[in-house]
Order: sequence, then structure tokens, then C-alpha cells
Amino acid sequence: MNIAIDGPAGAGKSTIARRVAKEKGYIYVDTGAMYRAIGLYFMNEGVDAENAAAVLDALAAIQVEIKYEAGEQQVYLNGKNVSKKIRQEAVGNMASKVATKQAVRDKLLDLQRNLAATQDVVMDGRDIGTFVLPNAELKIYLTASVDTRADRRYKELVEKHMPADLEEIKRDIEARDYQDMHREIAPLTQAEDAYYLDSSALTIDEVVAEIIRRIPQ
Ligand code: CDP
Ligand code: CDP
Repeated sequence: MNIAIDGPAGAGKSTIARRVAKEKGYIYVDTGAMYRAIGLYFMNEGVDAENAAAVLDALAAIQVEIKYEAGEQQVYLNGKNVSKKIRQEAVGNMASKVATKQAVRDKLLDLQRNLAATQDVVMDGRDIGTFVLPNAELKIYLTASVDTRADRRYKELVEKHMPADLEEIKRDIEARDYQDMHREIAPLTQAEDAYYLDSSALTIDEVVAEIIRRIPQ
């Protein structure tokens, strides 16, 4: 069973995908984390994402590995667990930038397809239903209004006692949506055979139930 969940930043993809996977006994695969790991490397090493040769050199020096520890996906960058570090907003913005590059996307594609080929997965990202797993048994396009998504991110940061500025979060989300939807390669769009699900007025439980109801028997 392959379930693909795509949608814009902060739509609830990872929260929902993780819950669906847990309830069904499937593996949750977070592809955004893989782009974030590459984004983190570019940030740390000061790689210029607009310099094609520098991008190729950097990619040759990067090894991204996915492991599961206590059922949770862990991302390793060159042997180091970076699962926590990649959560910074700045890394997300860099991930969105490097994700526009073909060489970066090519590097991650096999890793993503291999994970889905050998086990039941719920995989979330931007191009899972349209490109990575075109034959997924269930495809969901999960979205919510920009205000709702910014509010959710804001609350998350406040709960973690991290600095948060609602207007800045909203601007970041809008910029990332624009970049993800307008890039040339694998832009974020709804697959023709995906269900459109707007979670602006839905609780997490309601969204999870709706997706589970749609899993083909
Ligand atoms: O993975 P993605 O960026 O799409 O979003 P996320 O990190 O899973 O979700 C952002 C926040 O929205 C989390 O704090 C969720 O708890 C919250 N959320 C919610 O409040 N209501 C929903 N129906 C879905 C998510
Ligand atoms: O959690 P959030 O929705 O903010 O982002 P994410 O899923 O962690 O992904 C970070 C960035 O990686 C996105 O803004 C996309 O540009 C990129 N990405 C992608 O291009 N394709 C995917 N399948 C997953 C993520």
C-alpha cells in the first residue's frame, strides 16, 4: 500500500501522515526531511545553490540516509543524525531553494522509491502523487488557508518557547508556496487522481478519519 500526501507548507501533512501510518501499521516517509538535510549542508558549507558546478560538487560529497528508530524516521547527513537540526525555518527555506535543482531531485528519487517499493508507506511531500509514486493506491492533496497554516506554525513555535513572529511566518509560507508551485521541475500541483482536502476547518482527528476512510480495501 502506497499513500501519497502532497500539499503546501504547514498544511498538516507530516502530522496527518504520521498518524495515518501509526493507525494502519505503515511506515511514514517524510521526503521534505531529505530536502532539508541537503539544505542544511548547503547552509553549513555556504554552497551557492545558483552555481551548477558547486551544486554537483556538493551533491557528490553528500550522503543522505533514512533509518527508523522506535518507528520514527531519522535522517542522517554524512553519518550524523540531523533530524532535529533540519527543523529550523531557515533550513526549510534553503530546502525549498535547493529543491528547484534537477540534480538534487535526482539524487533523492531512488531513495524515496526504494522505501515505498518494499513496504507499506504513507509518504508526504510536494511531488509524491504526481511524480515519485504515480501508481500510489491513494493520493491526497492536503491544504489549508495561508492564515490557518501560519497560525498553526506560530502556535507550534510558541509551545516550544521559540521566537515567533506571525507576520514573518506568513510571509515565509507565502514565499515558499510560490517557489514550490512555480518551479520548472516537479512543481507542487494536485495530481489528477488525488482527493482535495482543505483542513482549515477540520481537526487532526477528522482529517485522519477522512483519509483512512478512503484507503481502498
Ligand atoms: O507537514 P506540514 O508542513 O504540511 O504541516 P505539519 O507540520 O504537520 O502541521 C503544522 C501544524 O498544524 C501542526 O502543529 C499540527 O498539529 C497542526 N494541525 C492542526 O492544527 N490541524 C490540522 N487539521 C492539521 C494540523
Ligand atoms: O514541513 P514543510 O511543509 O514546511 O516543508 P517540508 O515538507 O519539510 O519540505 C521542505 C521543502 O522541501 C519544501 O518547501 C519543498 O521545496 C521541498 N520538497 C520538495 O520539493 N519535494 C518534496 N517531495 C518534499 C519537499
